[in-house]
Amino acid sequence: MKFFVDTADINEIKELAATGLLDGVTTNPSLIAKSGKEFVPLIKEICDVVSGPVSAEVAATDYATMRKEAEVLRKIADHVAVKVPLTPDGLKVCKELSDDGTMVNVTLCFSPAQALLAAKAGAAFISPFVGRLDDISSDGLNLIQDICLIYQNYDFDTEILVASVRSPMHIIESAKMGAHVMTSPASVIKQLYKHPLTDSGLAAFVEDWKKTGQSIL
Ligand code: E4P
Repeated sequence: MKFFVDTADINEIKELAATGLLDGVTTNPSLIAKSGKEFVPLIKEICDVVSGPVSAEVAATDYATMRKEAEVLRKIADHVAVKVPLTPDGLKVCKELSDDGTMVNVTLCFSPAQALLAAKAGAAFISPFVGRLDDISSDGLNLIQDICLIYQNYDFDTEILVASVRSPMHIIESAKMGAHVMTSPASVIKQLYKHPLTDSGLAAFVEDWKKTGQSIL
């Protein structure tokens, strides 16, 4: 499973990139607003740090303006994935850009039917939002299961990018289903390292090593 981080905070991105475990970045207009930085230069800065796909989302909702914005975004770097909403106009832009060799991430997916449309439009990534479905007492992980089944049935190339991830459980359950990618806040990625038995086991090893009076170096 590939790990993307869902943030526009360049320091968080640099810190995670240094672990060697980061495969890409996703941003959205809300995250850009939170960063307080200018959009296009920020995406360029992120692209200089991360060599995997960096999602940059269009701001418009009509076809003509989205198409123009997409032109600006895809010129930033070859590894920019232009993010478009799952609407008829968004999928029209998706089809054109995908046919032209640009990666497209179709966002705001909440149903298997929408995911099927995105795959038919040639999306490189479909972003089903598991956390936001859970928030309304639906089952976000059921959506991942359904999309995995549909994409396998037709051998679609579109990668399932599990989004709106709120916990390690979302990641592990999606990985068991075979989802290709997950994107989460840095805090959730950091939670993956954690286990109380690792902490207590390490503390015991450190204490016992001291008793040996030895040094490896
Ligand atoms: C995905 O690309 C979105 O940016 C993101 O995962 C949304 O997450 P949220 O529901 O926590 O805002």
